[in-house]
Amino acid sequence: MNLSLDRHSDLPLYRQVAEQISNLIRSGVLSAGCRLPTVRQLAADHGLTRLTVQSGYAELQMQGLVESFVGRGTFVAKREKMIPPVAAAPGSALEQSPVEPTTWHNQSLLAELVLMTEQPDLLSFAQAIPDPATYPTRELRHALQSVLDQPDALSYGPIQGEKSLREQISRLLLERGIATSPDTLLVCSGAQQGIDVALRALAQPGEVILAEEPVYPGILELAATRGQRVVTIPMDQEGIQLTALEAACIAHHPRLLYTVPTFHNPTGLSLVAPRREALLSLARAYDLSIVEDDVYGMLSYEDQAPIPLKALDRTDTVIYITSFSKSLAPGLRLGTMVASPEQVRRLAAAKQSCDLICSPLLQRALALYLRRGHFAAHLQRVRTLYRERRDALVMALDRYLPGCSYTRPSGGLSVWVTLPEHLDESDFCRDALGRGVGVARGQAFFVRSQQRGYLRLSFGSHTPTQIQEGMRILGEVLYEQQRRRVLVLARAGLTTRPLV
Ligand SMILES: Cc1ncc(COP(=O)(O)O)c(C=O)c1O
Repeated sequence: MNLSLDRHSDLPLYRQVAEQISNLIRSGVLSAGCRLPTVRQLAADHGLTRLTVQSGYAELQMQGLVESFVGRGTFVAKREKMIPPVAAAPGSALEQSPVEPTTWHNQSLLAELVLMTEQPDLLSFAQAIPDPATYPTRELRHALQSVLDQPDALSYGPIQGEKSLREQISRLLLERGIATSPDTLLVCSGAQQGIDVALRALAQPGEVILAEEPVYPGILELAATRGQRVVTIPMDQEGIQLTALEAACIAHHPRLLYTVPTFHNPTGLSLVAPRREALLSLARAYDLSIVEDDVYGMLSYEDQAPIPLKALDRTDTVIYITSFSKSLAPGLRLGTMVASPEQVRRLAAAKQSCDLICSPLLQRALALYLRRGHFAAHLQRVRTLYRERRDALVMALDRYLPGCSYTRPSGGLSVWVTLPEHLDESDFCRDALGRGVGVARGQAFFVRSQQRGYLRLSFGSHTPTQIQEGMRILGEVLYEQQRRRVLVLARAGLTTRPLV
């Protein structure tokens, strides 16, 4: 292996070794499974001490790029595929064991997503947001005006939430098959606060929380701030893998599983019906409470959306969370939790310590908007709109990004794309950004940093024409990256076969 080391550089030699091998791996010159030279051999070839080479290899191992096996040597790590390609045979579960407890280390990736929202000229597929053009401003204005005539709308209100809103939400949830009464509801400031409140009320600092992976990063942040450790369970095309979940229950004795079983973020996949029942049985057997995040549940493109776990729950195993952020307008910051009256009391105490109450003014305005029957028509409109956009995205992916595989969700706002094996998602996203297109890096949704090669494309706020244009540009980025790789290989006089 030829490394070009600069002994006068400020960069220590072991870091130079690590960086250059890392570049060879990321550019695909060294492919998965390829064996690196032994420490002794590389040290001798380059006049280095063994400690220098060992430190370089250790650095690569920490980055998840190589794996070392005693007696066998050091190998380029396989890029783990959490989600099998869409073409894979149905039901092909991946054999993966749950990872060890870990805290989240990808905060900068989330910050990157937030930064993209502040770039006005960017054609961004990075945020899973509804189209602002669909916000029902006229109806909400009327509702707000009416509510402002009630002076106590500007006072404090009940911690559990305005009764008028809880009554309306109870009616709405019946359409998701969930029978509730206002007593079993807690209004919260979006689903994010619902998760926060559940973690505060139902788990202790230091406890292990289970979640599927890829995972909604919001739970990772919340758990990390409470000193709770998230152990992730792999998914396949049919949702969370129950064998791995059971193994994690045995290993960690957790009390809570956080899951997004319907139109999951980031993959868009839904847990299949038989696994829903099996998940509930498993949770009962291991005394596990399930925090079901159904924030996309109302955005089904088909008449029949998957039935929420809560609708199947007869034993108060499920704490259900949803919000109006994706289905109506995220700026309302209103959502709800459904739990047993006893659980609601504990959740309400935790909610009180967060922010006392949600704005009574907005709650009453939303209640009035719902009571006036506007929401059903709104939902009908946006479901049709997002179905058209999903179709536009899928067609454009087929046309411009051949070689990638992707999910085809039947609801929600995002598609999960798997890049061709040799492409690095960081390089891809950087180049896409350079051409004015923002995408969410798959790594933001993994606890394990070595999970590379995925993108989340959120299409809710773009017209089919914009979607087509965005994918055309991403297609150019893909082409350019593949061309560069061929050049690198040709310059090195290599095919894609391992160097050493
Ligand atoms: C799965 C999931 N849960 C919760 C949230 C937060 O939702 P809210 O705006 O209602 O707090 C999001 C937002 O993207 C999400 O994707």
